[in-house]
Amino acid sequence: MGYLDDLMHRSKEKAGAAALPKPIRQQPPAPAAAQEAPAAAVQKPKPHLEEISPPALAEPTAPEGAVLVSESGVGRIYKTKKGKFIYSVPVPRPSGPEREILDTVKEAATRLITVTPEEIADVKERRAFFKKRILEIIDSSPELGIAPSKIDFYADTIVREMIGYGPLDLLLVDDQLEEIMVIAPNKPVYVFHRHYEMMPTNVVFGRDDDIRGIIDRIARDVGRRIDVKDPLLDARLPDGSRVNATIPPISLEGSTITIRKFRQDPFTVVDLVKFGTINSELAAFMWVATEGMKAKPANVVVSGGTGSGKTTTLNTLAAFIPDGERIITMEDTAEIKLPVKHWIRFETRPPGIEGTGEVTMDTLVKNSLRMRPDRVIVGEVRGKEAFTLFTAMNTGHDGSMGTVHANDARETIVRLTSPPMSVPQLMLAALNLIIVQKRIHDRRKGTIRRVTEVAEVTGVLEDNPQVIYLYEWDAATDTIKPTGVPSKYLQELSKYTGMSYAEIQAEIQRRKEFIERMVMDGVSGIDAVSARIQGFFG
Ligand SMILES: Nc1ncnc2c1ncn2[C@@H]1O[C@H](COP(=O)(O)OP(=O)(O)OP(=O)(O)O)[C@@H](O)[C@H]1O
Ligand SMILES: [Mg+2]
Repeated sequence: MGYLDDLMHRSKEKAGAAALPKPIRQQPPAPAAAQEAPAAAVQKPKPHLEEISPPALAEPTAPEGAVLVSESGVGRIYKTKKGKFIYSVPVPRPSGPEREILDTVKEAATRLITVTPEEIADVKERRAFFKKRILEIIDSSPELGIAPSKIDFYADTIVREMIGYGPLDLLLVDDQLEEIMVIAPNKPVYVFHRHYEMMPTNVVFGRDDDIRGIIDRIARDVGRRIDVKDPLLDARLPDGSRVNATIPPISLEGSTITIRKFRQDPFTVVDLVKFGTINSELAAFMWVATEGMKAKPANVVVSGGTGSGKTTTLNTLAAFIPDGERIITMEDTAEIKLPVKHWIRFETRPPGIEGTGEVTMDTLVKNSLRMRPDRVIVGEVRGKEAFTLFTAMNTGHDGSMGTVHANDARETIVRLTSPPMSVPQLMLAALNLIIVQKRIHDRRKGTIRRVTEVAEVTGVLEDNPQVIYLYEWDAATDTIKPTGVPSKYLQELSKYTGMSYAEIQAEIQRRKEFIERMVMDGVSGIDAVSARIQGFFG
């Protein structure tokens, strides 16, 4: 008996010989959801990405009485009678016997295809190659009894499982999703949607092994391992998304995966103004500060809580850096995306499987200072690198930037000056601006992100850093207002440039109007916005 025959034999014994695949039906998450969709709710999905073959997928169905409210990526968002949202992708949940066949072919493919996915760098080519080989395997195995109409379904599912991230691939293609969360087997995968916020999907992993399979793939791709001794994993997917994974026993209900989706086209200053995160005046002030009127760019820290949008705002600021400057960015997970040419990106490296080879943020920052940078940007300042970064700021590396995890300007200072960052208070004077951003739940507007404070450290008096506030957010009116306190940084800039304070204010006004024009013109995408910004100088 051949290898495949042998496997099939065993699989049929387990599944029962008569257990041929049944037509796939969508299984939405709620029990009430197992009904057919109302006819009106079933429409053709939006154009699919090339790598996902629509014919192989079942149509998503809606829970009874639910209405289709939006299409997003390859998914559809339904609102149930109770007003809850559900994200439904056309992913089939294979029946038991189908699962057996999938496993059989997958096992055969794993043995027979000797090329590792990593050997084919182009993702599309990789998928095409694997699909072709899997079709060959299915083709030469009539004993599987796969109906011709089902061949694509099996091949695509196996490709997704072997070289993709299984059904998560269908969620990963949607740029409207901020986060994708696998919480345990037999529970819906959740997503956080930009407009509809947190909701369950119809994707459910039936076995913890299926989640583990994806985690192991992610770990292998980044040369790491996850096991009982080391049950946590931080990694990055090839598309740039950040992943955290955990396995039992530390996650009690089963393995978890949390993906912070990477936006292929990052938000720009135009988006932030449109969202109300900043207004055009603050945007113009930030532009003058990061650009520095070609004389003295500000050293800036963006602070905020988890998911408040720090990295996004940092990216927006960095996009104001004049083209031609030499930018070095350092991150734990590369998220910054700049439209400039002269840019060197670094990523820290955790210890490898043998516990060696770690490259810390501090090492990277020290190294960057030997690279004649114009700008040093640290994705997240957390540890010893804070001291190195502040030493750089204090020795003339103007225009350095980073983010800090803190809830307001004062807390930012406390964090920076306490272990493990331990920046001496005297060094704080080199920090020009603290931009504080918050993620806020607004009763009417839902989740909003706002810059709530823009502060300056004016000096240190008897061990007490002196902070002044230039802008403050007013919750009652949801507006960010200048406090009227004159900016120490702008006064300094006035000395460096020979311009009067009023002239600098006039420049901010000019740029404010320029940004408003971009918003009005609907300029979108980082390339277009950056082209306009760089074009401002003529
Ligand atoms: N101003 C904004 N308005 C709306 N959505 C935003 C805004 N800024 C960021 N986001 C979205 O919020 C999510 C988190 O953003 P980001 O990664 O910038 O936050 P963060 O504070 O750096 O998070 P972390 O603490 O995890 O590093 C992303 O999906 C991003 O697209
Ligand atoms: Mg971040």
